[in-house]
Amino acid sequence: MRTERRPRSRFYDGRPYAATLDRLLGRLHQLVADAVEPTRRVLDVGCGTGDLLWRLAPKADEVVGIELSPAMVDFGNERLAASALPNVSFVLGDVTRALADLPEDHFDLATVVLVLHEMPTEAQVPVLNEVARLARQVLCVDFRAPMPWNGAGLRNRFFELAAGLEHFQAFRAFQHVGGVPGAAREAGLVYELIRPVDAKTMDMGLVRRSI
Ligand SMILES: C[S@@+](CC[C@H](N)C(=O)[O-])C[C@H]1O[C@@H](n2cnc3c(N)ncnc32)[C@H](O)[C@@H]1O
Repeated sequence: MRTERRPRSRFYDGRPYAATLDRLLGRLHQLVADAVEPTRRVLDVGCGTGDLLWRLAPKADEVVGIELSPAMVDFGNERLAASALPNVSFVLGDVTRALADLPEDHFDLATVVLVLHEMPTEAQVPVLNEVARLARQVLCVDFRAPMPWNGAGLRNRFFELAAGLEHFQAFRAFQHVGGVPGAAREAGLVYELIRPVDAKTMDMGLVRRSI
């Protein structure tokens, strides 16, 4: 089955995403950056506009963001040109293919923040397998399954619906699969919970190969 996705932008990618979701997610991105020990190379998968990349930049010699949306990458590169961060770069493409030439464990760590819930179910296993090949440790933050019906859970469901029907269907399918732990199990990978976040509507966890 062909699961590679072609680059494409959605109506809210780039500047609208930076003006809304990057602001809302700033604390979460900082929480992720704070959980990262100083290291050599970090890959941020589905990096969006790069908000997490700036926060990771002081922690690593090299920080690479890979992203499927040209509008996100264009916006990120504009910001990058205006800043002085020589160790940050963007790659446009699908992570299942775009970095296939790199050897196993090229990165010390990969981060995958709010990415798996929005992709088609059949893409989750190839994405997780390739990311776990590129980096021995994969730090994931995504929605808990099932997501609680508290205030944060209602807010998150609202944003998932507002992003469009396709997005909402992917979110529902992700819940059905059992979130990141379920997707990791399907991929034959090991999942370890680090901590709940966002009023227990999200979890931060580590995914890695079993050997
Ligand atoms: C909800 S956004 C989250 C962006 C960012 N991680 C954040 O926390 O703000 C998920 C992003 O993952 C990207 N994405 C989804 N599948 C991908 C893939 N296979 N390869 C690269 N990027 C992907 C999408 O284009 C989207 O911009």
